[in-house]
Amino acid sequence: MTLPSTPYQRFAYPVLRSLDAEAAHHHALTALQTLQRNSLALAILRQLYTVRHPRLERTLFGVRFANPVGVAAGFDKNGVAVEALAALGFGHIEVGTVTPRPQRGNERPRLVRLIRDEALINRLGFPNEGMHAIIPHLPPRGTRTFVLGINIGPNKTSVTAGRAIDDYLAALDYCAPVADYFAINISSPNTPGLRSLQQAQSLDDLLTSIFRHTSNERISTPIAVKLGPDLTRDDLCELVRVLMAHPVAAVIATNTTSSRPASLRDPLATESGGLSGRPLRDLATAVIRTISDASAGKLPVIGVGGVFSARDAHEKLEAGATLVQLYTGFVYIGPSTARRINEGLLSMKRIRQRDTKAVARSPLPQDG
Ligand SMILES: Cc1cc2nc3c(=O)[nH]c(=O)nc-3n(C[C@H](O)[C@H](O)[C@H](O)COP(=O)(O)O)c2cc1C
Repeated sequence: MTLPSTPYQRFAYPVLRSLDAEAAHHHALTALQTLQRNSLALAILRQLYTVRHPRLERTLFGVRFANPVGVAAGFDKNGVAVEALAALGFGHIEVGTVTPRPQRGNERPRLVRLIRDEALINRLGFPNEGMHAIIPHLPPRGTRTFVLGINIGPNKTSVTAGRAIDDYLAALDYCAPVADYFAINISSPNTPGLRSLQQAQSLDDLLTSIFRHTSNERISTPIAVKLGPDLTRDDLCELVRVLMAHPVAAVIATNTTSSRPASLRDPLATESGGLSGRPLRDLATAVIRTISDASAGKLPVIGVGGVFSARDAHEKLEAGATLVQLYTGFVYIGPSTARRINEGLLSMKRIRQRDTKAVARSPLPQDG
């Protein structure tokens, strides 16, 4: 293992590792949820883990982020611990994937640790309580010290019935009052048929419907699109052209991979599902670089995949990302992950501060 030895890795992780991976995740989230009910505990976490510095601040699609490190979608699917996660030093939290109706997801076991590879394989299939249960419990806008993204996706049955678009539109309507930005998830490998929305014509149709709808409904929340890492370079360039033809605020790159790099050593690597963590890092960085090059830097990117350290984050920022997110690195490194990355970025001589102004979107009628 190349990981730093943190108190979490020495004491808490061995206990969590002895549990089924999904059960361990559930316990960790419940602990964070319990902590967040206590304002003193939150204040202590903030004191211990939050790094504030003007050089860490970023502005993306008109939204101010206190630092470039965020929690990727899937970690807090139901948005139960966002305040505790922010107190651990993350500048933004992406809740979800949230679907319109509650959904159980796939059969367990469905989350596997590849310890030797510092990776995870998941085939969860969007288990979540559904937007009507999740959204009312999120802290309202104006009371938050962090940026809250909401990652939305269709229910499995809607994809099967060819009605995925209706679900995205329903989720946009319902979640808009609380979201600082939306992530349109079209790249999870665990909902059959979802990734066909990554075909250029399908994506164009989806974005046309979405932006017609948001314009009619006067929803001005920035909308990002989350892509997977398994597209060819040509397909990715084609998608960049489609994305740039619409007022898309950013691309989130990338979701988990269906591929299995030859470097994998863990015997569980043959499990089915999306692979995340260390083995995804360079693949995701290459996707960020391609998007950045193909858009001449005009399409903002949020980089995600295999970020464990400040160096990993820095590589993604240098490849063209404005912000980074992580999930698997947080599982392996623990509560100090964001602080370590933010401190590490600050100690680097040069960190690219790629502030990006709000993408010009067709003004809403009431904007004047
Ligand atoms: C257990 C698990 C569940 C995930 N669930 C979601 C999800 O619901 N929606 C989504 O867009 N991405 C989801 N992801 C993908 C992550 O957001 C991220 O894109 C991916 O794991 C790569 O980042 P990482 O290497 O830092 O984990 C999930 C990842 C994991 C490991």
